[in-house]
Amino acid sequence: MTQHHQFEAVIVGAGGAGLMAALHAARSAKVAVISKLYPTRSHTGTAQGGIAAALANMEEDHWEWHMYDTVKGGDYLVDQDAAEILAREAIEAVIELEHMGLPFDRTPDGRIEQRRFGGHTAEHGKRPVMRACKSADRTGHMILQTLFQNCVKQQVTFFDEYFVADLILEDNVCRGVVAMDIASGEMHVFHAKAVMLATGGFGRMFKVTSNAHSLTGDPVAAAYRRGVPLEDMEFFQFHPTGIYRMGILLSEAARGEGGVFINGQGERFMERYAPTMKDLASRDVCSRCIYLEVKAGRGIGGKDYVYLDIRPETINRYKSAPGGRTVTAHELETKLPDIIEMMRIYQGVEPMREPVPIQPTAHYAMGGIPTDSSGRVRANEGPGFVTGLFAAGESACVSVHGANRLGTNSLVDLVVFGRRGGRAMARFCQQAAFAPLPADPQAAVVAELERIRANTGQEKAGALRAEMQAIMMDNVSVFRDAGLISAAQAKVRELKERFAHVQIDDKGRRFNTDLLEAFELGCLLDLADVTASSALARTESRGAHSREDYPQRDDANWLKHTFAFAGQPSGAGLAMGEVRLAYRPVVVTKFEPKERVY
Ligand code: FUM
Repeated sequence: MTQHHQFEAVIVGAGGAGLMAALHAARSAKVAVISKLYPTRSHTGTAQGGIAAALANMEEDHWEWHMYDTVKGGDYLVDQDAAEILAREAIEAVIELEHMGLPFDRTPDGRIEQRRFGGHTAEHGKRPVMRACKSADRTGHMILQTLFQNCVKQQVTFFDEYFVADLILEDNVCRGVVAMDIASGEMHVFHAKAVMLATGGFGRMFKVTSNAHSLTGDPVAAAYRRGVPLEDMEFFQFHPTGIYRMGILLSEAARGEGGVFINGQGERFMERYAPTMKDLASRDVCSRCIYLEVKAGRGIGGKDYVYLDIRPETINRYKSAPGGRTVTAHELETKLPDIIEMMRIYQGVEPMREPVPIQPTAHYAMGGIPTDSSGRVRANEGPGFVTGLFAAGESACVSVHGANRLGTNSLVDLVVFGRRGGRAMARFCQQAAFAPLPADPQAAVVAELERIRANTGQEKAGALRAEMQAIMMDNVSVFRDAGLISAAQAKVRELKERFAHVQIDDKGRRFNTDLLEAFELGCLLDLADVTASSALARTESRGAHSREDYPQRDDANWLKHTFAFAGQPSGAGLAMGEVRLAYRPVVVTKFEPKERVY
């Protein structure tokens, strides 16, 4: 039996973007939030170090400097009209969070305390600036709790642990979504005037990642399969400080407070690569430098990792804390409590006395579902939009992050563009009628789930997933070239064919994670194909896309966004065939592209 629901606005995803959108849409529309997880387990909760806003509480700062850093950090692939909105509106969005009750850290005189973060500078790159507003190293957690509590207060309806597997999208009009209640296995059709996708990233296509197990991009793949393009998917950020081998995030805030990278020769190597910003150069730069150190044999013990060193004696020796001041272990334990605990628990290291093994970890998708600054989803590389469809947060591409996102700008993106998207949905719902539903909108999903459930083939989802993650990690990560990317693309396509033969052991309906994980794998394979195909086509190096065979940035030919469209289905199931690529120019308003110097 399929259950039917009708809401004016349906928001898929209960992280920062979805909840901010829900709060604002719910002021005039009837809103439902559908989430694969219990809302406060959303991945926003793992964002650690801070949310940027040029409040200038600690030292001089301006929104225009924030905009410049965002554009430069994104290696000039950023749409500058959107970056201006991000930097300007960050200020009032942070104040709005404060007024909702978010417990920010405070200066002695009661203002929001701020810290340094990678790529955030004063006076257009002259020196690091304290711009990240924070709650110790639990900033995302606090944002999530605050927004959820406010949504509950505003009586937003939640459907927790529902898996959205398809969009109801016909004649370029989005009419709702199809979801499965994970607990019962029952199908649910949500009829809506407006749908927002705010489902986060899909870093689970890589072997070493900071992303939670749930980040498999299902609704992003659903949109792609229904003809929505995906923008700039070749740009995937590797955060320099993942716990070695596990990928769990150790916040950049550690370096904001003075921590440094150390190689196998005991050298603070970032001084060589980025003499001004040093360990606070942007993430793409730091990750590449770590790979170069390892390649040159200067990893720790010649291995594939380096150290993050936050020992007070090291910070004080290098005078690397803000203002060169002296830090104590107590101060670091107060400012970085969670990551210090993680170093102790996961690595068995005592970070006040020992350096910590780290390696770059797949962290953030700069690309995603293309939108304008009101969250409206673009139908193509031209001026068209999909009626009734919105996106925000990591699953969207506005594009404010361009080729490489600055640390703390993800949280800004969530609240600024979540809020704008929610307001735009509310306006849309006031003037739009419910578009009629097609007959049996759940049919395609039911058929795919039944196909997987009944399959007697020899393939296992876990094994295919491991092969995908290994090839994406080895061939489409920090450094790439045509040979590596082509091999990954061929492998992913082979896996898509083998996916047609995936067999599951659990044939039941209730809480069937075996079935869901197989479905999620199909989504990840489509997104990995788009990532590799977009990366292969872009014959330049820019931001997080570093091609060893095309080491230069090429503004003459590549100052443009990639738009990837699905070809015809590739055979069994929902998996899509060849990827078709088109391009859209970057919006440049204030800052002409220049060489990036750190
Ligand atoms: O390093 C961090 O705390 C991560 C923040 C971010 O990705 O913005």
